[in-house]
Amino acid sequence: MDLIRVHGGVRLAGDVAVVGAKNSALKLMAAALLAEGRTVLRNVPRITDVAIMAEVLRRLGCAVDLTTVDDKSCLVTIDAPAELGVEADYDLVRRLRASICVLGPLLARRGHVRVAHPGGDEIGSRGLDMHVSGLARMGATISNEHGYVIARADRLRGAMIWLDFPSVGATENLLTAAVLARGSTQIDNAAREPEIVDLCAMLTAMGAKIDGAGTATLVIEGVEALSPVTHHTIGDRIVAGTWAFGAAMTQGDVTVRGIDPAFLELALDKLGQAGAEVTGVADGFRVAMSGRPRAVDIRTLPFPGFATDLLPMAMGLAAVSEGASLITENIFDGRFMFVNEMSRLGADIRTDGHHAVVRGRERLSGAPVRATDIRAGAGLVLAGLCAEGVTEVGQSHHIDRGYPGFLRDLRGLGVTVERGVAPEEPEFDI
Ligand code: EPU
Repeated sequence: MDLIRVHGGVRLAGDVAVVGAKNSALKLMAAALLAEGRTVLRNVPRITDVAIMAEVLRRLGCAVDLTTVDDKSCLVTIDAPAELGVEADYDLVRRLRASICVLGPLLARRGHVRVAHPGGDEIGSRGLDMHVSGLARMGATISNEHGYVIARADRLRGAMIWLDFPSVGATENLLTAAVLARGSTQIDNAAREPEIVDLCAMLTAMGAKIDGAGTATLVIEGVEALSPVTHHTIGDRIVAGTWAFGAAMTQGDVTVRGIDPAFLELALDKLGQAGAEVTGVADGFRVAMSGRPRAVDIRTLPFPGFATDLLPMAMGLAAVSEGASLITENIFDGRFMFVNEMSRLGADIRTDGHHAVVRGRERLSGAPVRATDIRAGAGLVLAGLCAEGVTEVGQSHHIDRGYPGFLRDLRGLGVTVERGVAPEEPEFDI
């Protein structure tokens, strides 16, 4: 088992730069399917998920090139053919849930698509009903057969769609289907995340007609065809937020660059309430904490609410704060899966449904733990920094899916950290 070993009792200090957002780049890559020809994406993070998405696109007939720019970012070139394939197989989709975002573009361009159903994962059940019902409103016939979502529509038509919940993935799939549909589509209760705004910016540059990006109502006027463009991916607010929480938890002083602080307003405000000094700097922000953080309550919500992907970091902060915090998760039903691992580090956490009460402790205690997903992994590493002794976070490949150059960045901020391999588990015969 792959692991990351951190030595605790350290204070994060220094500068760190974030590159493009995973959750933007993956969707921009899928959107490249909408236009025949060569799309170029800049500021794409060098992470496993991007490599898997590149493979999904190759299997659909695209020529995809990933050129290394530096240790954290790459340039992605996608040459989409006139005649795209129509299938995304389970072997890739199960490794990258975001592969589902090829559904909208492929249906729009090919009128037929077969994408493996990604199923649930470690953070929850992750339904597809809003993707499916929205596309059905646009005239698609959709079935679920042998683990695949199969959709057909000769030409999608514009429709009025209300989402039950501002789902990021459903908004993206419906948006990328609507840009080539006949007529006008309105998506109400749409997601407003910065990554959706980034996708709208790229689609608009490609020739799409979209109104309302960043609001809860998107109005899309379908066009006949789109053209490929060159696009720069927005900075990763979750990686930036991870460093911000890390600074506060370790009573450190970190300057984060490559990010618009407006993407993290609520999170940074919470850190201010916890006692941190938060200031804006050119192209980023600085978080400095002197003394022990004060407990704050946090509830996750769709953007502009507190991001669910920062919940493990918020839990880590609460675990070392003075006082008790009430932490409420409102997006994923399995987001608390990692709580038992954080408790192994001595955190005092009690959960009840989607609420957790965390009573802060002055110090945690290093132990072997296991990352259950990307964000839980990062949260456990940060908690390990506040622990006495060594913490080994197993299944660290999860972290590599979302944090380019994670170890190098940690070292740059003063952490002693290395990769390791857990000893083979003994087999017991019966
Ligand atoms: N949902 C449904 N039905 C649907 C769609 C969603 O019930 O048709 C539910 C989901 O089960 C979940 C909630 O709605 O409980 C939110 O799902 P959403 O569709 O908004 O999330 P997503 O598109 O699957 C993206 C990010 C997640 C991030 C969420 C919320 C990507 C690739 N993933 O997921 O990122 O947590 O939005 O902001 O963009 C991560 O990066 O670690 C990560 C999990």
